Amino acid sequence: MIQKKLILLWIILLFMGCNPSTPVVEYSVIPEPQAIVYANGNLSLGHTPSIAFNHSLASEAVMLSHWLTEDFQMQPLLKEGGSKGAIVLALDKTLMPEQPEAYVLDVSRKRITIKAATSVGILHGIQTLRQLVREEEGKYLVQTGTITDSPYYSWRAFMLDEGRYFKGKVVVFDLLDEMARLKLNTFHWHLTNDQGWRIEIKKYPRLTEVGAYRDSSEIHHFHSNVYDGKPHGGFYTQEEIKEVVAYAAERGITVVPEISMPGHASAAIAAYPWLGASGKEIKVPGQFGVHYNVFHVADPKVMQFLEDVIDEVIALFPAPVFHIGGDEVKYDEWKASPVIKKYMKEQGLKTPAELQVFFTNKISHLLATKNRRMMGWNEITGQQLHEYQSDEDTQGEQKLNPEAIVHFWKGDPKLIKQTLEQGYNVVNSYHIFTYLDYSYKSIPLEKAYHFNPTPEGLTSQQQKQVLGLGCQMWGEFIPTVESMQEKVYPRIAAYAECGWTLPEKKDYNRFVNALYSFLPVWDKKGIIYGPVQEQ
Ligand code: ACM
Repeated sequence: MIQKKLILLWIILLFMGCNPSTPVVEYSVIPEPQAIVYANGNLSLGHTPSIAFNHSLASEAVMLSHWLTEDFQMQPLLKEGGSKGAIVLALDKTLMPEQPEAYVLDVSRKRITIKAATSVGILHGIQTLRQLVREEEGKYLVQTGTITDSPYYSWRAFMLDEGRYFKGKVVVFDLLDEMARLKLNTFHWHLTNDQGWRIEIKKYPRLTEVGAYRDSSEIHHFHSNVYDGKPHGGFYTQEEIKEVVAYAAERGITVVPEISMPGHASAAIAAYPWLGASGKEIKVPGQFGVHYNVFHVADPKVMQFLEDVIDEVIALFPAPVFHIGGDEVKYDEWKASPVIKKYMKEQGLKTPAELQVFFTNKISHLLATKNRRMMGWNEITGQQLHEYQSDEDTQGEQKLNPEAIVHFWKGDPKLIKQTLEQGYNVVNSYHIFTYLDYSYKSIPLEKAYHFNPTPEGLTSQQQKQVLGLGCQMWGEFIPTVESMQEKVYPRIAAYAECGWTLPEKKDYNRFVNALYSFLPVWDKKGIIYGPVQEQ
């Protein structure tokens, strides 16, 4: 009798799709998806799974095949035009149209289906799938279930500063691969700074002939005044830039270029001294920290130069946003220039901060005529942030163009609220939480994980103005790839989760556990990473 009951129970459970012999293996995915519903049992993928897709997803299918080979040595069969396969990729325009990066990943015992309204959504689903496949006794198993997922923030950026040290495209490709794995969607490429100009501009060849090279580099730390005595240099040709942009696009990543203006301009001024407000000849500095050299923004020839550079840059970067830097401008050269003083008077500008906002608005309007939206570090609002700027220099009534995206990095956190109250869109990269050049002592993994890009006490409209976050790999003291990786990894995974996962679903213990099963992937690639636990 008891046996009959057990058999009956077993049949009922089987009927409900709940096979007691195959317990649920919980998914371990970074960033944690929004919603998971488990089913019972596993799908077993063979060595040559078929991937069905229609023509518009050909690139995504090729990427999936590439990754299945890289991760699991599979040899997938691509079935263009087919709707039956072990893995099916399908666009569905009706799927969460207000969430362009959303996807649904369904794993049944028969097949895996990834659906999304956009190709980027499909790519995110593919990244999740890569993390679900388990290798067990020569088999590739995937726990059955359904993941419905979309990001919390639309701007999830990683920034690489190559102004300080040129790394080259192979390093960038590798970073883009890891960004894609973590569903970071914006590569903010910091291409110019005092110590180097890294992008070929055909109209101004000296920018790279001269501006991409320096004699020596300061080492150890800021203000050490100790130099390595070794020349450093390098730049990207326009062809290489196109390769990087295309590589990123295949992985669902937008590349936003940053060309610093009006400050952090020494390398450009070393190439063309007439660009500088002082007119003095300088060398590309090897000293780090903020320099005095700034563009002569009152000179029409300099403004034409900037427009020419912008034109060549936007021809290479389809991103809708253009980052102009705008941070850490020392006003001494402007204050010392009679031409600039006269210009300020003519324009009714009382302080250098007003001149900076006036200049920034000109660039912003120029970019708008070219279908680009300007973004800049939060000094573009005209606020006083630095000890080297006096209060009187930073007063002003010039108002930043409301279309600008303000990239908050420094200052009283109240400033971010104020900026939102004034109606601006903001990306939050508050330095004490998101600067990857900072040590693990000052930003351990757990602190990185707990970064909340949205300040407390905002209206729901203001909350929507927070587009997301960036994490920044500033380059002054990472001359080697290894030194860079050790700073980037594993904190980049924490920022990925800050950007993607619903705040109420964030859980540091779960994240760290997931990270431990993630690390072998980096080990396999030879990626070096910093401490997971505080030391
Ligand atoms: C910055 O760190 N100067 C934006």
